[in-house]
Amino acid sequence: MTRRLYRATVFATPRNPFREARALEAFADGALLVNDGQVQACGEFSAIANANPNAEIHDWRGSFLLPGFVDTHVHFPQVRIIGALGEPLLDWLKHSALPEEARMADASYARLIAREFLSALARHGTTTALVFGAHFVPAMEAFFEEAGSSGLRIASGLVLSDRNLLPVLHTSPDAAYEQSQTLISRHHAKGLLTYAVTPRFALSNSDAMLDVCRSIMAETPSLLFQTHLNENQQEVMAVAREFPWASDYLAVYEKFGLVGERSVLAHNVHASNSELQRLAASGATVAHCPVSNASLGSGLFAMTRHVHAGVRIALGTDVGAGTGFDMLKEGLQAYLMQRLCPDGYGLTPAHLLYLATRAGAEALGANAGDFAPGRSADFVRIQAPEGSVLQAVQKNAESPERMLAAIFTLGGAESILSTWVAGRQV
Ligand code: GUN
Ligand code: ZN
Repeated sequence: MTRRLYRATVFATPRNPFREARALEAFADGALLVNDGQVQACGEFSAIANANPNAEIHDWRGSFLLPGFVDTHVHFPQVRIIGALGEPLLDWLKHSALPEEARMADASYARLIAREFLSALARHGTTTALVFGAHFVPAMEAFFEEAGSSGLRIASGLVLSDRNLLPVLHTSPDAAYEQSQTLISRHHAKGLLTYAVTPRFALSNSDAMLDVCRSIMAETPSLLFQTHLNENQQEVMAVAREFPWASDYLAVYEKFGLVGERSVLAHNVHASNSELQRLAASGATVAHCPVSNASLGSGLFAMTRHVHAGVRIALGTDVGAGTGFDMLKEGLQAYLMQRLCPDGYGLTPAHLLYLATRAGAEALGANAGDFAPGRSADFVRIQAPEGSVLQAVQKNAESPERMLAAIFTLGGAESILSTWVAGRQV
């Protein structure tokens, strides 16, 4: 494969801005050198071009190159219920989400939805996603097949539940074990696919089902784990009733060994200090979904307490409670909500980029999310549409940081020109 040199304004956050100053790398006349699907170099165009005279130059001046977005919490069966506004979590599940999830019993419908879902990810510049799957094996077979041919980096798994949902969405712990192992043997670590053990949430799972999750994780340590945690006050109270032995919500998952470095727990809006300390010690990541938290009225995310406790945080759109696939919008919403929170965290453009890219890649153990040499060449080309407000701001932006802020504020699917995974356009 020839080495390709992409010339554009380049942004990345190879360092964690929650821990280090100057985390943002920005090259106004920058270059990304890609060889055999990997980043070979990133920096000033002149330096990289001089050092690599044989590279094929793609002159994308006027565009912006960012690491591909990493959506750490998104539900594939919920594409067609985006926009069901007006209800809190448990009512929204009952009236909107679960009836649509039941339709995934029809595998050809599930395949159609999978295609809509994967194409929406790519069109929004998302290159990697940790995806909540469906409750049905044929739907998951269809999803993994479509994900494999999409070229995207996808982690997902069969959703497990044995109580408190619609009966058609329930399975038994024994069936869950057998079906999960079959899906793992067929799809885990194949190409860019990873399997994620996915109990829907504590409220819909018995001790026996969570114990099955423990067994599956123990047998294949390279799996990921995902679920929901502390999203809504009614949910938290219901979990306390279902698990009277548990000191808090997190303790339910801890008892079954499900909280570790490969765990991604969505929301955590209503967390105690003890839970934050234990999450930090475990190395688990909280998927922060600020649009969904606002839309369902779940609550204000205590980012400052998470950061001070040392809990890892990444971003998720939580489609379909979230209102769309746009990780730029998700970053902007994180910023806006923190502005309104008492004790809110002062997020800078570097934080937004890190949360939308490298933080998620770290959570999923993906060799992506920034432009360090050797990373997979996962990137997004952003260009302000002709006549757009973003283009007007671009003419005036006085610093790269201001421009990055404008991209998060005004960017969207219409400004995503192309999306690349491992050096290939998807
Ligand atoms: N908790 C259990 N299931 C769901 C879901 O589908 N969406 C959200 N936001 N929370 C959940
Ligand atoms: Zn969710």
